[in-house]
Amino acid sequence: MAKVIVKDNSGDELANFAGNSDDPISTQSQENGAEVPVACGVGVCGTCKCKVKKGREFIDDSAFGDAQVPLEEGEVLTCVSGIKEDAPEDAEIEIELENL
Ligand code: FES
Repeated sequence: MAKVIVKDNSGDELANFAGNSDDPISTQSQENGAEVPVACGVGVCGTCKCKVKKGREFIDDSAFGDAQVPLEEGEVLTCVSGIKEDAPEDAEIEIELENL
């Protein structure tokens, strides 16, 4: 499954792990050491917003619910986004958290 790299808004790496399709990206990131800020957990507040730097095509941005806040091009909510099941083994996803 896809390799996931999580950075803060300064570009410092917080986590680097093999992701799966079972849980939201925020949950997986937290389990792998990145303190992703999450408030509502259901796509309504924007706290968990990130910019996708790499691998946008491997992210299903509504795998765990729909985003209900306005997002710019390239932004996703990590609490409702997941990794696509058909993402190849060598897929690489890099995200930069906006509120950390
Ligand atoms: S934590 Fe509220 S939108 Fe993700």
